Amino acid sequence: MSASSCSLCAFVKSSIGRKIIVALTGLALVLFLAGHLSGNLLIFAGQEAFDEYAEFLHTFLHGMGVWIARIGLLVCFVVHIWFTILLTKANKAARPKYAHEATVQAPKSSRIMIWSGLTILAFVIFHILHFTVRTDSELATLGEESPWKMVILGFQNPLVVLFYLIAITLLCSHLSHGVASIFQTLGLRSKKTAGPIKFISKAYALVIYLGFISIPLAILLFGFGCEK
Ligand code: HEM
Repeated sequence: MSASSCSLCAFVKSSIGRKIIVALTGLALVLFLAGHLSGNLLIFAGQEAFDEYAEFLHTFLHGMGVWIARIGLLVCFVVHIWFTILLTKANKAARPKYAHEATVQAPKSSRIMIWSGLTILAFVIFHILHFTVRTDSELATLGEESPWKMVILGFQNPLVVLFYLIAITLLCSHLSHGVASIFQTLGLRSKKTAGPIKFISKAYALVIYLGFISIPLAILLFGFGCEK
């Protein structure tokens, strides 16, 4: 085995290497959310704008663009979760039996990272079946005709909207801690930058939260799109 491949193995096996992998895959997912939200907000620009955007996504690079993005996302998602599990296991093994004081003092968003993470995983699976695979035959037929109409119909169900709201709330709790951790792991957090980093993470999580919940809420509570 060459020296460079060995140093890669050592990096992947080291605690700091694993933290950097979690941070970089987390960063890619954080950036995906900003892109996904910007595209989704086109719902408010009307049916034509949203359907044109969906058409662009599916035809970009002769249809290969969406698959490149899907594979990249899946790899980031799996690697992010896998290395988080490895780090959590190693942390637990290294922790003395009765040392729970640090847990008590940690912020709530940090303590529930594993639970918010698992809910996001369940949500993403549900969401892909809902809007990408379209297991509901009515949504599938409508989705072929107009993705905009599919989203409007998809959010007519109060239980579905409730699940989206719970998942998006936990997603944003995960983000408000996770974004700050990315800066810390990448060595960008110092005494001077700690305040601005905390502010940026919370502000980013809030923008993502308000942006995503605005769509199901506008449709279910205010009947947006239902007059068509
Ligand atoms: C309420 C807000 C949301 C709406 C209206 C929405 C809408 C959509 C739509 C229409 C698709 C299907 C794209 C297509 O295949 O044509 C999609 C896919 C997807 N969404 Fe969302 N989404 C929302 C929130 C989220 C959130 C919060 C996440 C992340 C946690 C997310 C992650 C994904 C992923 C991973 C895909 C699969 C991409 C693909 O393979 O097509 N979405 N979303």
